[in-house]
Amino acid sequence: MQTTLSDWLALQETSSAPLQRGLEQVAEACRVIAGLVERAPLEGRLGALTTTNIQDEVQKALDLASNDVFLDLCGQEPVFAGFASEELDDVSMGTQGGDFLLAFDPLDGSSNIEVAMCVGSIFSVLPAPDAARGRAIQAEDFLQPGRNQLAAGYALYGPQAMFVLSVGAGVAGFTLDRDRREWILTHPDMTVPEESGEYAINSSNERHWKPGLRQFMAAVQVGREGPLKQDFNMRWTAAMVADVHRILVRGGVFLYPADNRPKVANGKLRLLYECAPMGWLVEQAGGVAYGANGPVLNVRPSSLHQRSPIALGSRRVLEQAWAEYLVSDGAAEG
Ligand code: F6P
Repeated sequence: MQTTLSDWLALQETSSAPLQRGLEQVAEACRVIAGLVERAPLEGRLGALTTTNIQDEVQKALDLASNDVFLDLCGQEPVFAGFASEELDDVSMGTQGGDFLLAFDPLDGSSNIEVAMCVGSIFSVLPAPDAARGRAIQAEDFLQPGRNQLAAGYALYGPQAMFVLSVGAGVAGFTLDRDRREWILTHPDMTVPEESGEYAINSSNERHWKPGLRQFMAAVQVGREGPLKQDFNMRWTAAMVADVHRILVRGGVFLYPADNRPKVANGKLRLLYECAPMGWLVEQAGGVAYGANGPVLNVRPSSLHQRSPIALGSRRVLEQAWAEYLVSDGAAEG
Protein backbone atom coordinates (compact mmCIF):
# COMPACT_ATOMS: atom_id res chain seq x y z
CA MET A 1 0.00 0.00 0.00
CA GLN A 2 1.25 3.50 -0.80
CA THR A 3 2.07 5.95 1.98
CA THR A 4 0.77 9.48 1.43
CA LEU A 5 2.39 12.58 2.89
CA SER A 6 -0.45 12.79 5.44
CA ASP A 7 0.11 9.15 6.49
CA TRP A 8 3.81 9.80 6.87
CA LEU A 9 3.35 13.04 8.83
CA ALA A 10 0.98 11.32 11.25
CA LEU A 11 3.79 8.87 12.13
CA GLN A 12 6.42 11.53 12.85
CA GLU A 13 7.05 11.88 16.57
CA THR A 14 9.00 15.10 16.09
CA SER A 15 6.06 16.98 14.56
CA SER A 16 2.99 18.17 16.44
CA ALA A 17 -0.53 18.09 14.96
CA PRO A 18 -0.45 21.88 14.21
CA LEU A 19 2.90 21.50 12.45
CA GLN A 20 1.50 18.62 10.39
CA ARG A 21 -1.45 20.75 9.31
CA GLY A 22 0.88 23.57 8.33
CA LEU A 23 3.11 21.26 6.32
CA GLU A 24 0.18 19.70 4.51
CA GLN A 25 -0.83 23.19 3.45
CA VAL A 26 2.71 23.96 2.24
CA ALA A 27 2.64 20.72 0.24
CA GLU A 28 -0.72 21.70 -1.24
CA ALA A 29 0.73 25.07 -2.29
CA CYS A 30 3.59 23.21 -3.99
CA ARG A 31 1.13 20.89 -5.76
CA VAL A 32 -0.69 23.92 -7.16
CA ILE A 33 2.59 25.57 -8.21
CA ALA A 34 3.63 22.35 -10.00
CA GLY A 35 0.49 22.80 -12.12
CA LEU A 36 1.26 26.48 -12.78
CA VAL A 37 4.80 25.62 -13.89
CA GLU A 38 3.57 22.87 -16.18
CA ARG A 39 0.93 25.09 -17.81
CA ALA A 40 3.00 28.31 -17.93
CA PRO A 41 3.62 28.31 -21.73
CA LEU A 42 -0.06 27.52 -22.39
CA GLU A 43 -1.27 30.33 -20.15
CA GLY A 44 1.18 33.00 -21.28
CA ARG A 45 3.04 33.05 -18.00
CA LEU A 46 6.59 32.71 -19.33
CA GLY A 47 8.95 35.64 -19.25
CA ALA A 48 9.95 38.58 -17.14
CA LEU A 49 7.84 41.42 -15.75
CA THR A 50 9.13 44.96 -15.46
CA THR A 51 9.28 44.75 -11.66
CA THR A 52 12.27 43.79 -9.48
CA ASN A 53 12.34 42.26 -6.01
CA ILE A 54 14.22 43.70 -3.03
CA GLN A 55 17.40 42.00 -4.29
CA ASP A 56 17.06 43.99 -7.53
CA GLU A 57 16.34 40.79 -9.46
CA VAL A 58 13.82 40.98 -12.30
CA GLN A 59 10.64 39.17 -11.31
CA LYS A 60 8.92 36.65 -13.55
CA ALA A 61 5.16 36.27 -13.82
CA LEU A 62 5.53 32.81 -12.32
CA ASP A 63 7.60 34.10 -9.36
CA LEU A 64 4.70 36.33 -8.34
CA ALA A 65 1.97 33.79 -9.10
CA SER A 66 3.84 31.20 -6.98
CA ASN A 67 4.25 33.72 -4.17
CA ASP A 68 0.50 34.38 -4.22
CA VAL A 69 -0.23 30.65 -4.04
CA PHE A 70 1.98 30.26 -0.94
CA LEU A 71 0.39 33.27 0.76
CA ASP A 72 -3.19 32.32 -0.16
CA LEU A 73 -3.03 28.66 0.78
CA CYS A 74 -0.73 28.83 3.80
CA GLY A 75 -2.59 31.95 4.98
CA GLN A 76 -5.71 29.77 5.32
CA GLU A 77 -3.95 27.66 7.94
CA PRO A 78 -4.09 29.46 11.32
CA VAL A 79 -0.91 27.79 12.60
CA PHE A 80 1.21 30.34 10.69
CA ALA A 81 1.68 33.66 12.47
CA GLY A 82 3.60 35.25 9.61
CA PHE A 83 5.40 34.82 6.32
CA ALA A 84 8.70 35.96 4.80
CA SER A 85 9.29 35.48 1.09
CA GLU A 86 12.00 36.21 -1.42
CA GLU A 87 9.39 38.17 -3.34
CA LEU A 88 8.24 40.40 -0.44
CA ASP A 89 10.25 43.32 0.91
CA ASP A 90 8.81 42.88 4.40
CA VAL A 91 6.98 40.19 6.35
CA SER A 92 3.35 39.35 5.68
CA MET A 93 0.97 38.83 8.59
CA GLY A 94 -0.61 35.42 9.16
CA THR A 95 -2.84 34.49 12.09
CA GLN A 96 -1.94 36.33 15.29
CA GLY A 97 -1.02 33.82 17.99
CA GLY A 98 -0.07 31.15 15.41
CA ASP A 99 2.71 28.79 16.48
CA PHE A 100 4.98 29.03 13.45
CA LEU A 101 6.69 31.33 10.99
CA LEU A 102 7.06 30.29 7.36
CA ALA A 103 9.94 31.59 5.21
CA PHE A 104 10.01 30.61 1.55
CA ASP A 105 11.44 31.09 -1.88
CA PRO A 106 8.32 30.42 -3.95
CA LEU A 107 10.12 29.73 -7.23
CA ASP A 108 13.84 29.03 -7.08
CA GLY A 109 15.90 29.05 -10.27
CA SER A 110 13.28 30.86 -12.29
CA SER A 111 15.74 31.63 -15.12
CA ASN A 112 15.23 27.95 -16.03
CA ILE A 113 11.54 28.43 -16.78
CA GLU A 114 11.79 29.53 -20.42
CA VAL A 115 14.06 26.62 -21.24
CA ALA A 116 11.81 24.01 -19.61
CA MET A 117 14.40 22.98 -17.04
CA CYS A 118 13.96 22.24 -13.34
CA VAL A 119 12.73 24.90 -10.93
CA GLY A 120 11.59 24.51 -7.34
CA SER A 121 10.23 26.02 -4.13
CA ILE A 122 12.13 26.09 -0.81
CA PHE A 123 10.62 26.58 2.66
CA SER A 124 11.63 26.80 6.30
CA VAL A 125 9.39 26.59 9.39
CA LEU A 126 10.56 28.40 12.54
CA PRO A 127 8.87 28.73 15.91
CA ALA A 128 6.99 32.01 16.43
CA PRO A 129 8.65 33.69 19.44
CA ASP A 130 6.49 33.76 22.59
CA ALA A 131 6.93 37.52 22.72
CA ALA A 132 5.12 37.80 19.37
CA ARG A 133 1.92 36.05 20.49
CA GLY A 134 0.08 39.21 21.44
CA ARG A 135 1.16 41.38 18.52
CA ALA A 136 1.73 41.46 14.76
CA ILE A 137 4.75 39.54 13.49
CA GLN A 138 7.85 41.63 12.76
CA ALA A 139 10.90 40.95 10.60
CA GLU A 140 13.03 40.48 13.76
CA ASP A 141 10.93 37.46 14.74
CA PHE A 142 12.36 35.59 11.74
CA LEU A 143 15.99 36.34 12.62
CA GLN A 144 16.69 32.94 14.17
CA PRO A 145 19.58 30.58 13.42
CA GLY A 146 18.81 27.65 11.13
CA ARG A 147 19.22 25.27 14.09
CA ASN A 148 15.86 26.55 15.38
CA GLN A 149 14.00 25.16 12.36
CA LEU A 150 11.16 22.76 13.14
CA ALA A 151 10.76 21.65 9.54
CA ALA A 152 12.28 22.47 6.17
CA GLY A 153 11.97 21.21 2.66
CA TYR A 154 11.61 21.90 -1.02
CA ALA A 155 9.52 20.99 -4.00
CA LEU A 156 11.21 20.18 -7.29
CA TYR A 157 9.27 20.76 -10.51
CA GLY A 158 11.05 18.54 -12.99
CA PRO A 159 10.32 15.34 -14.92
CA GLN A 160 8.37 14.42 -11.81
CA ALA A 161 7.20 16.86 -9.14
CA MET A 162 8.81 15.96 -5.83
CA PHE A 163 8.32 17.19 -2.26
CA VAL A 164 11.27 16.62 0.07
CA LEU A 165 10.86 17.23 3.77
CA SER A 166 12.47 16.93 7.17
CA VAL A 167 10.80 17.43 10.53
CA GLY A 168 14.07 16.83 12.34
CA ALA A 169 14.37 13.06 12.11
CA GLY A 170 15.85 12.32 8.69
CA VAL A 171 14.68 13.29 5.23
CA ALA A 172 11.87 11.80 3.15
CA GLY A 173 10.92 12.39 -0.49
CA PHE A 174 7.44 12.22 -2.03
CA THR A 175 6.42 12.11 -5.70
CA LEU A 176 3.26 13.84 -6.90
CA ASP A 177 0.54 11.54 -8.19
CA ARG A 178 -1.31 14.12 -10.25
CA ASP A 179 -4.38 11.95 -10.77
CA ARG A 180 -4.86 11.33 -7.06
CA ARG A 181 -3.67 14.87 -6.15
CA GLU A 182 -1.48 13.28 -3.48
CA TRP A 183 2.20 13.30 -2.59
CA ILE A 184 3.28 9.63 -2.32
CA LEU A 185 6.32 8.49 -0.32
CA THR A 186 8.91 7.23 -2.84
CA HIS A 187 12.24 8.10 -1.15
CA PRO A 188 11.78 7.07 2.50
CA ASP A 189 15.25 7.68 3.91
CA MET A 190 17.28 10.09 1.84
CA THR A 191 20.96 9.95 2.77
CA VAL A 192 23.86 11.94 1.36
CA PRO A 193 26.61 9.41 0.59
CA GLU A 194 29.79 10.25 2.50
CA GLU A 195 31.94 9.78 -0.59
CA SER A 196 31.20 11.39 -3.93
CA GLY A 197 33.02 12.59 -7.02
CA GLU A 198 30.50 15.19 -8.24
CA TYR A 199 30.67 18.92 -7.66
CA ALA A 200 28.46 21.85 -8.61
CA ILE A 201 29.76 25.40 -8.91
CA ASN A 202 29.35 28.16 -11.48
CA SER A 203 32.94 28.12 -12.66
CA SER A 204 32.41 31.07 -15.02
CA ASN A 205 33.02 33.14 -11.86
CA GLU A 206 36.51 31.71 -11.36
CA ARG A 207 38.28 35.04 -11.92
CA HIS A 208 36.37 36.48 -8.92
CA TRP A 209 37.10 33.64 -6.50
CA LYS A 210 39.07 33.96 -3.27
CA PRO A 211 42.41 32.16 -2.82
CA GLY A 212 41.20 29.18 -0.75
CA LEU A 213 38.45 28.32 -3.22
CA ARG A 214 40.85 28.70 -6.15
CA GLN A 215 43.22 26.21 -4.54
CA PHE A 216 40.42 23.77 -3.77
CA MET A 217 39.09 23.91 -7.32
CA ALA A 218 42.61 23.46 -8.70
CA ALA A 219 42.88 20.30 -6.56
CA VAL A 220 39.48 19.12 -7.84
CA GLN A 221 40.59 19.53 -11.42
CA VAL A 222 43.86 17.68 -10.97
CA GLY A 223 41.77 14.68 -9.89
CA ARG A 224 43.29 11.47 -8.57
CA GLU A 225 46.88 12.63 -9.15
CA GLY A 226 46.35 15.51 -6.71
CA PRO A 227 45.82 15.96 -2.96
CA LEU A 228 42.15 14.93 -3.04
CA LYS A 229 43.13 11.56 -4.60
CA GLN A 230 39.99 11.18 -6.69
CA ASP A 231 38.52 12.24 -10.02
CA PHE A 232 35.52 14.59 -10.14
CA ASN A 233 32.68 15.26 -12.53
CA MET A 234 30.84 18.60 -12.72
CA ARG A 235 27.07 19.33 -12.81
CA TRP A 236 25.43 22.80 -12.61
CA THR A 237 21.71 23.25 -13.19
CA ALA A 238 21.44 26.93 -12.09
CA ALA A 239 18.56 25.97 -9.77
CA MET A 240 19.70 25.26 -6.22
CA VAL A 241 16.76 22.91 -5.63
CA ALA A 242 17.80 20.63 -8.49
CA ASP A 243 21.49 20.61 -7.50
CA VAL A 244 20.67 19.88 -3.84
CA HIS A 245 18.19 17.19 -4.86
CA ARG A 246 20.92 15.43 -6.83
CA ILE A 247 23.16 15.57 -3.75
CA LEU A 248 20.43 14.11 -1.53
CA VAL A 249 20.00 11.26 -4.01
CA ARG A 250 23.57 10.41 -5.03
CA GLY A 251 25.94 12.72 -3.17
CA GLY A 252 28.31 15.46 -4.27
CA VAL A 253 29.07 19.01 -3.22
CA PHE A 254 27.37 22.30 -4.10
CA LEU A 255 29.11 25.63 -3.68
CA TYR A 256 27.91 29.19 -4.13
CA PRO A 257 30.78 31.11 -2.54
CA ALA A 258 31.21 34.76 -1.65
CA ASP A 259 33.56 36.26 -4.23
CA ASN A 260 35.24 39.52 -5.14
CA ARG A 261 32.28 41.03 -7.01
CA PRO A 262 30.68 43.74 -4.81
CA LYS A 263 27.21 42.21 -5.26
CA VAL A 264 28.46 38.79 -4.20
CA ALA A 265 30.68 39.93 -1.31
CA ASN A 266 28.51 37.91 1.10
CA GLY A 267 27.48 35.23 -1.37
CA LYS A 268 24.45 35.18 -3.66
CA LEU A 269 21.97 32.86 -2.00
CA ARG A 270 19.72 33.95 0.84
CA LEU A 271 20.32 32.64 4.36
CA LEU A 272 16.78 32.45 5.69
CA TYR A 273 14.91 30.72 2.87
CA GLU A 274 17.65 29.08 0.78
CA CYS A 275 20.85 28.28 2.72
CA ALA A 276 19.33 27.46 6.15
CA PRO A 277 16.59 25.07 4.96
CA MET A 278 18.89 23.35 2.46
CA GLY A 279 21.67 23.15 5.05
CA TRP A 280 19.25 21.59 7.51
CA LEU A 281 18.06 18.98 5.01
CA VAL A 282 21.63 18.08 4.08
CA GLU A 283 22.68 17.76 7.75
CA GLN A 284 19.55 15.70 8.45
CA ALA A 285 20.61 13.40 5.61
CA GLY A 286 24.13 12.96 7.05
CA GLY A 287 25.96 15.62 5.01
CA VAL A 288 27.58 18.91 6.02
CA ALA A 289 26.73 22.55 5.27
CA TYR A 290 29.06 25.52 5.77
CA GLY A 291 28.32 29.24 5.59
CA ALA A 292 30.85 32.08 5.91
CA ASN A 293 32.64 30.95 9.05
CA GLY A 294 31.43 27.47 9.94
CA PRO A 295 28.18 25.48 9.96
CA VAL A 296 25.56 27.58 8.20
CA LEU A 297 22.91 26.50 10.72
CA ASN A 298 24.69 28.37 13.51
CA VAL A 299 24.34 31.74 11.80
CA ARG A 300 21.69 34.11 13.12
CA PRO A 301 20.54 36.34 10.23
CA SER A 302 20.69 40.07 10.82
CA SER A 303 18.09 40.86 8.14
CA LEU A 304 15.34 39.01 6.27
CA HIS A 305 17.07 38.91 2.91
CA GLN A 306 20.65 38.47 4.13
CA ARG A 307 22.89 36.54 1.77
CA SER A 308 25.36 33.84 2.72
CA PRO A 309 28.07 31.83 1.03
CA ILE A 310 27.16 28.15 1.04
CA ALA A 311 29.08 24.89 0.59
CA LEU A 312 27.07 21.75 1.29
CA GLY A 313 27.10 18.06 0.50
CA SER A 314 29.05 14.85 1.03
CA ARG A 315 30.90 14.75 4.31
CA ARG A 316 34.35 13.43 3.45
CA VAL A 317 35.34 15.73 0.62
CA LEU A 318 33.65 18.80 2.06
CA GLU A 319 35.13 18.46 5.55
CA GLN A 320 38.56 18.22 3.94
CA ALA A 321 37.80 21.13 1.59
CA TRP A 322 36.64 23.27 4.51
CA ALA A 323 39.55 22.51 6.82
CA GLU A 324 42.32 22.72 4.20
CA TYR A 325 41.06 25.37 1.78
CA LEU A 326 37.75 27.16 2.34
CA VAL A 327 38.02 28.14 6.01
CA SER A 328 40.68 30.73 5.18
CA ASP A 329 38.34 32.52 2.74
CA GLY A 330 35.67 32.85 5.42
CA ALA A 331 38.08 34.09 8.05
CA ALA A 332 39.43 36.71 5.65
CA GLU A 333 35.89 38.01 5.33
CA GLY A 334 35.75 38.66 9.07
O1 F6P B 1 18.31 31.60 -6.08
C1 F6P B 1 19.09 31.90 -7.04
C2 F6P B 1 19.62 30.82 -7.99
O2 F6P B 1 18.82 30.73 -9.14
C3 F6P B 1 19.88 29.42 -7.43
O3 F6P B 1 18.76 28.59 -7.52
C4 F6P B 1 21.03 28.94 -8.28
O4 F6P B 1 21.81 27.96 -7.63
C5 F6P B 1 21.79 30.20 -8.54
O5 F6P B 1 20.90 31.30 -8.34
C6 F6P B 1 22.36 30.31 -9.91
O6 F6P B 1 23.15 31.40 -9.98
P1 F6P B 1 24.04 31.77 -11.27
O7 F6P B 1 23.07 32.24 -12.31
O8 F6P B 1 24.94 32.85 -10.78
O9 F6P B 1 24.77 30.52 -11.69
